[in-house]
Amino acid sequence: MSEKSPKLRAELDGIPTYKPGKPAAAGGPVAYKLSSNENPYPPLSGVLETAVAAAGQFNRYPDMACTGLVNELAERFGVPVEHIATGTGSVGVAQSLIQSTAGPGDEVIYAWRSFEAYPIITQISGATSVQVPLTYGDVHDLDAMFDAITERTRLIFVCNPNNPTGTAVRRAELERFLDRVPSDILVVLDEAYKEFVRDTEVPDGIELYRSRPNVCVLRTFSKAYGLAGLRVGFAVAHEPVAAALRKTAVPFGVSQLAQDAAVASLRAEDELMGRVGALVGERARVHRTLVGQGWTVPDTQANFVWMRLGERTADFAAACEKAGVVVRPFAGEGLRVTIGETEANDIFLHTAEAFFKEM
Ligand SMILES: Cc1ncc(COP(=O)(O)O)c(C=O)c1O
Repeated sequence: MSEKSPKLRAELDGIPTYKPGKPAAAGGPVAYKLSSNENPYPPLSGVLETAVAAAGQFNRYPDMACTGLVNELAERFGVPVEHIATGTGSVGVAQSLIQSTAGPGDEVIYAWRSFEAYPIITQISGATSVQVPLTYGDVHDLDAMFDAITERTRLIFVCNPNNPTGTAVRRAELERFLDRVPSDILVVLDEAYKEFVRDTEVPDGIELYRSRPNVCVLRTFSKAYGLAGLRVGFAVAHEPVAAALRKTAVPFGVSQLAQDAAVASLRAEDELMGRVGALVGERARVHRTLVGQGWTVPDTQANFVWMRLGERTADFAAACEKAGVVVRPFAGEGLRVTIGETEANDIFLHTAEAFFKEM
């Protein structure tokens, strides 16, 4: 018998593992999960009923073209159906975007720190990550990102608002950047948290995409729409980018359950956006309270706040967990805390207050 193990691609060596937000401890006194930027509200009853009805047919493959969902999205955003491509969460679409544009020898530019899937999916494709540090205020440094462009650049992610800092780039600077990037480089505006944005100067990527064939917008049903567990996201992009996404997508990746629940969610948007409004109100309260306690917290346009704690990160995360809320530490850097249920936010704020006093 051969002792050799199957040959795997060398690019896979050293890929950082995606760290999912830690679940809330089972059986603890109170345990809230503020570690994955999920929506704390349970599914709307109508959406749940739709999903349950679809579950009765999961012996069948789903509609591979996601026809109903794509039609609904095209109408909702006023874009051609051919410009929409769906996937298993927006991270699935992001991976297809890289597979469609970049391989060994090519470069993918993104801010750092930003969404932790970017380095993983770049490395999987064999391309090279070019990480451009955020500014001192934890915002994308678009000038430095522009300066990082080389002959080998194939794709640039702009995460707006940025995960994990919550900061957002505004219209004038983003348009200036897009106007300068060569038209043969794809710019992906990752707008996973778009629905939480309240700064009117932060642009809607779909408006920017309309006149720019090299701009692609990523959106998800995981956050504001509360369907994280069903895995459905989509891109809005011109041809040939959207067509490339359809070629590289995993066949039948989006379940019928997810497709139907997404359509039901779009139809229940008023109610869902009411919930988003309540979370935005909580976000303002959490931010205001933290600043009042003495913390420096960047302005956030997403459903989380970012606290730069450096070496104290792990201690603060442990204090939160002990108090009953699980947050997301980035060792040695800082902590991302999702806006959750009011009680959860209160526990977090009390812990933050006590921790600040001890520092
Ligand atoms: C910036 C950003 N993009 C994309 C995603 C992926 O979300 P999903 O794959 O659930 O659509 C996330 C999730 O955390 C995110 O923070």
